[in-house]
Amino acid sequence: MTSTDQQPFLSIRDLKVHFSTEDGIVKAVDGLSFDLIKGKTLGIVGESGSGKSVTNLTILGLHDRDRTAIEGEILLDGKELLTATEKELERLRGNKMSMIFQDALASLSPYHTIGTQIGETYRKHTGCSKSQARKRAIEMLRRVGIPQPDMRVDDYPHQFSGGMRQRAMIAMALVCDPELLIADEPTTALDVTVQAQIMDLLKDLQQEFGTAIIFITHDLGVIADIADDVLVMYGGRCVERGTKKEVLGDPQHPYTVGLLNSMPSLNGSVDV
Ligand SMILES: Nc1ncnc2c1ncn2[C@@H]1O[C@H](COP(=O)(O)OP(=O)(O)OP(=O)(O)O)[C@@H](O)[C@H]1O
Ligand SMILES: [Mg+2]
Repeated sequence: MTSTDQQPFLSIRDLKVHFSTEDGIVKAVDGLSFDLIKGKTLGIVGESGSGKSVTNLTILGLHDRDRTAIEGEILLDGKELLTATEKELERLRGNKMSMIFQDALASLSPYHTIGTQIGETYRKHTGCSKSQARKRAIEMLRRVGIPQPDMRVDDYPHQFSGGMRQRAMIAMALVCDPELLIADEPTTALDVTVQAQIMDLLKDLQQEFGTAIIFITHDLGVIADIADDVLVMYGGRCVERGTKKEVLGDPQHPYTVGLLNSMPSLNGSVDV
């Protein structure tokens, strides 16, 4: 069965995200369309500033509404997100859709324990008790490979190493078993062993819950490992899209060709 036979879970049509700045209009995203079905992973690659993060922050509704002009459609499970109210988005964020952010430290509050931050997201969406939320936080820390999670759950972010903070962020994004998970360079700061562990965790989650995943990375090795389809962004647009085999095996856009050539282990021997 090809992806076109199935109803997309996420459908983006002609998305434009333009910022007005002192220097003029920045067309961060400029006419982007793609679909993602349940249980599949879309890898997004593209040079720095090509609009990857802005696209995904817009899906979550985390853009500055006053300074941002947005056009197009973002349908999640048939619901239009661009016209959703803040309240509706709050119900969806962290629950039906969630994001692992590029910068873990900036995304965690320094004044609350790791366990509280993971547990609060769970409590907000499930209405469970504080002790159940703590139990869930410990379970999630264990799943992302934090040793002695029952002790570390009470640590503050500054007591965690960079890699541990990134894993805590991942635990927070996964705590409600989201149907759409957006991962913005989630493993870049981690060493390869932990990176492999996180990739396995995401694959397990996807198998268990049929999660749709958007995975943003500069690392084609990661794409080769985790993606089903690949979308290449350049200047706020999609310049190339196809199955992993098509894009990595026979890249068309100069950016993709260059990226592939800069990865000796993949060049000429893409194991997809
Ligand atoms: N709030 C904002 N106001 C003005 N311009 C912005 C804003 N947010 C992002 N931009 C600009 O939009 C463009 C796209 O940014 P974005 O963060 O999506 O890039 P990216 O592809 O994620 O890059 P990277 O790989 O470095 O993370 C950049 O030119 C950026 O400077
Ligand atoms: Mg980014």
